[in-house]
Amino acid sequence: MARYDYTSMGFFTYDCLGWPFTEVPPGGGTVFIDELTLAVSGAGGTAAIAAAKMGLKTLAVAGVGDDLMGDWVLQRLQHFGVDTWGVQRKPGWKTSSSIVTTRADGSRPALHMKGATANFFVDDSMIPRVVDTKVFHAGGVGLMDAMDKGQSAIVMKAAKAGGAVTTVDVFAGSPKDLPAIAQVLPYTDYFMPSIEEAQALCGLTDHGDTARFFLDMGVKACVLTLGGDGAYYHDRDGLKFHVPAFDIAVKCTCGCGDAFDAGFAVALNHDFDAETSVRFAQATSALNATGLGSQAGVKDFEHTLAFMKTTKTKR
Ligand SMILES: Nc1ncnc2c1ncn2[C@@H]1O[C@H](COP(=O)(O)OP(=O)(O)OP(=O)(O)O)[C@@H](O)[C@H]1O
Ligand SMILES: [Mg+2]
Repeated sequence: MARYDYTSMGFFTYDCLGWPFTEVPPGGGTVFIDELTLAVSGAGGTAAIAAAKMGLKTLAVAGVGDDLMGDWVLQRLQHFGVDTWGVQRKPGWKTSSSIVTTRADGSRPALHMKGATANFFVDDSMIPRVVDTKVFHAGGVGLMDAMDKGQSAIVMKAAKAGGAVTTVDVFAGSPKDLPAIAQVLPYTDYFMPSIEEAQALCGLTDHGDTARFFLDMGVKACVLTLGGDGAYYHDRDGLKFHVPAFDIAVKCTCGCGDAFDAGFAVALNHDFDAETSVRFAQATSALNATGLGSQAGVKDFEHTLAFMKTTKTKR
């Protein structure tokens, strides 16, 4: 029996979000908004909290600074029962943080300060506990500067050797980000980038061609998230399908891809088949999008399952 159901390693960020954003006021003026909230976000942070809400015994592995945001991120993770043994406080560093201005249509331009995500390091002595899990997730490969030089691949290799199922999400904008990501792909069961990031990495447009590019680099399955168009699954055995998104009133799409990662991990823990896993992951994303701030709309496993069974999809 593994010690954890889920280890989420990577990008944990402090978000301050306001809604609805219309404009930056001229000069030193003020624009009034209706809602303001805080959230732990990121492909590691959202995933850890959403998974914990849905019942997974979760370990967080990340870096935060010795600042107010770091205090809050730790407190918030612990509030949801996430084990923070793997969260390192980095003296002299800032916590990765964003000011997110969400428009009425749910789109969310952000101001981001990179921080301790770039600096944390899982040394060899930590690896046995970090990989003692049913599902191991690296969320935000491309932002973990210290880990992206090869140690993430060593951790993922150990996770595979220990029998974990592995998932990867990225932060990528161009082919220049590919070398860091390529290192972990041979140890990746489910590669789950957004279509924009996947296409930026490989320069291809067709979903099938894009998936095959990453299958050739060693992943077992490629799950491309397509925003409001749903998700595309394509694996090494030739199974491929598209699942439309749920038809919902969107409040804020911040963290939708990260919530997808959590939903997929929960599905893997419940041994769902591939199509149900993609549907459950999308249900988690859709619930995420109904609230302001990552995972605000995610409650628990039964709630997500009922939502998945009863909510209409777009097509
Ligand atoms: N407008 C929307 N309506 C319904 N579902 C949505 C919408 N936007 C996103 N989703 C759901 O969220 C999932 C992930 O979204 P998306 O592809 O935008 O992730 P992302 O760009 O990686 O986001 P993030 O910034 O969190 O990393 C989609 O597969 C879909 O199910
Ligand atoms: Mg994403």
